[in-house]
Amino acid sequence: MGAEPAPGLNGPGETLTIYRKVIDRNYMSHRQIAEALGGCWLQDSPGRILDLGCGDMEVTSALMRKAPPSIVVAVDGSSSALEEARKRVEAVSTDGRFVNSDLLAFLRGNEGEFDWIIAGFTIHHLTAEEKVEFFALARRHLLSGGSLVLFDCVRPVGMSRDEAVTSYLDWIESDWTAMTDRENELIREHIEESDYPEEPGTLRAMAEEAGFAGWDLLGSWNEDRHVLFRFTGVA
Ligand SMILES: C[S@@+](CC[C@H](N)C(=O)[O-])C[C@H]1O[C@@H](n2cnc3c(N)ncnc32)[C@H](O)[C@@H]1O
Repeated sequence: MGAEPAPGLNGPGETLTIYRKVIDRNYMSHRQIAEALGGCWLQDSPGRILDLGCGDMEVTSALMRKAPPSIVVAVDGSSSALEEARKRVEAVSTDGRFVNSDLLAFLRGNEGEFDWIIAGFTIHHLTAEEKVEFFALARRHLLSGGSLVLFDCVRPVGMSRDEAVTSYLDWIESDWTAMTDRENELIREHIEESDYPEEPGTLRAMAEEAGFAGWDLLGSWNEDRHVLFRFTGVA
C-alpha cells in the first residue's frame, strides 16, 4: 500500500485494515520472509536498524523479538502506520524513532548510519530513477559490513509493467479468497495506480551500480512474485 491511501480508500485506517488482513492470511509470505531472515539477524546481531516504509513492522518486529537492536529508526509516509509500528517497538523495549516522511526525502536529509536497512514491499512504488537513487542513498547510510535487506514484489522476466500488474491482479483474484469484493476493488485501484515492480536482475544491477559488492537471494515465494534480497559488501 502506498504512503497515501489509494483513491476510494476510506482513509488510512481502511488501508491498514486491509493490509493487516493480507498479512494475517500470509498472502504475501511475511511469515516465510521473517523465517528466512532469522538466521542472518541472529548471526549479525545488528544494533542500528533503519526500516523504510515500515508499515506496522510485521517482519522487523518478528526479528526484534529474537534479539532486540539498540535502536530502530522507522520511516513511513503514513502516520497511522507509524503508530502501529510504535506499539510493536515498545513491546520489545527497544529505543525507537518514528519519522513521518517520504523515504527518499529522509535518506537525502539525514546523515545517520545503520547496520541493517530494511525496505519491505515499499520500493516497488518508486519510479526506476527513484529506485536508482534509493540504492545509492541506502549504501551511503550503511556502516561498514552493513546489509540492505529488500523484500518486494518483482516483475517476471520479459514482462512489461502493465503485463506484470495484470498478472499480479489475476493472481490476487484467484488466490486471495478471503478478500471481499470491495477490498479487492480497492486493492486493484491501488496496484494499477502505484505499483512499478522491477525484474530481480534490474534490482541487482541497481544495487551493484550503487556500490554493493555482494548479494544473496534469500528466498522467493508465490511463484517468484515476491523476493527477498540481502545486499552487502559495503567497505
Ligand atoms: C505494503 S506496505 C509494507 C509495510 C511493511 N514494510 C511490510 O513489509 O509489510 C508499504 C508501506 O510503505 C509506505 N510507503 C510507500 N511509499 C512510501 C514512500 N515513498 N515514503 C515513505 N513511506 C512509503 C506506506 O505508507 C506503507 O506503510
